[in-house]
Amino acid sequence: MARIGVLTGGGDCPGLNAVIRAVVRKALADGHSLFGYTYGWAGVLGGEGRELTKENTAGILPRGGTILGSSRTNPFKEDGGGAEAVRAGLAAQSVDLLIPIGGEDTLGVAARLSREGIPVVGVPKTIDNDLKGTDYTFGFQTAVQIATEAIDRLHTTAESHNRVLVLEVMGRHAGFIAAHAGMAGGADVILVPERPFDIDEVCEHLRRRHASGRTFSIVVVSEGATPREGTITTAGSGQVDAFGHERLGGIAVALEREIEERTGYETRMTILGHVQRGGTPTAFDRVLATRFGVAAATAADAGRFGVMVALRGTEIVEVPITEALGAPKTLDDRFYADAAVFFG
Ligand code: F6P
Repeated sequence: MARIGVLTGGGDCPGLNAVIRAVVRKALADGHSLFGYTYGWAGVLGGEGRELTKENTAGILPRGGTILGSSRTNPFKEDGGGAEAVRAGLAAQSVDLLIPIGGEDTLGVAARLSREGIPVVGVPKTIDNDLKGTDYTFGFQTAVQIATEAIDRLHTTAESHNRVLVLEVMGRHAGFIAAHAGMAGGADVILVPERPFDIDEVCEHLRRRHASGRTFSIVVVSEGATPREGTITTAGSGQVDAFGHERLGGIAVALEREIEERTGYETRMTILGHVQRGGTPTAFDRVLATRFGVAAATAADAGRFGVMVALRGTEIVEVPITEALGAPKTLDDRFYADAAVFFG
């Protein structure tokens, strides 16, 4: 019987605990034991964590965050130590194989370890839903629900004050959260990373809408949306993480300023930020996370490594981890076109 190491890496996401619980329950039923590494790859490198049991994973199904903690530590960066250091972390806890739960960075490390002969089964995770290889990731639906509720609330205050209200949501490379929440909340403009925007066109659209008798507007923007070159300037944070990603957030600040200056309409912005990543997962995400966890433990039990579990249609399948890597999955033009029917 094997000893399975579990870790959660990258940004947290509602549903991580549901995956951990499902992996533990299924693997224990198959006769394996489990060790939970704390704080992602950092825990593996230090050999740190704790035994995972039915008792200490009970009651975590609806809980947000991750009981294991998370980090963006990259074992292949500078003094990370690479595959040898990971091997030492596994040996320190007599762990035979790993189930890493994470996004492109965590799964990128998992794929590399797999190439170097370490047995891994990946579980894909991101609220952005931009991972290739799977139709949906858990956490996404929860984020959309939170953003939709925010739009509903912004609507009533926008209407009361005749204002343009700009809501910035997460979505680094892809506009899934903005487009889905924007459609669900009836946004008048949706700006996504896939389609660099022209601020003049946005303002013209708002003027047309207001000329037709509407007195307020809702603009939903992904944090990763960018203005077409030379249209407006936005300040980058200049800060990057261990995987080289810039810290985003703030496009709504520029939009608030530019829309108000150009149209004369009173404009206010809200940045939803990590509210979208916190709290209890929706039922859909609990179910998806649970099915992912059971499927990952099943693959591990059967000795099928180098794969990740994925949702295709309504089925949970195993695909090579490498399918999730490379260019992100982006929003289908047809979905955006459907949302755009309601702009105006
Ligand atoms: O990838 C998920 C995500 O939530 C992105 O939408 C966002 O840019 C990033 O993580 C934020 O990361 P952090 O919590 O490290 O600021």
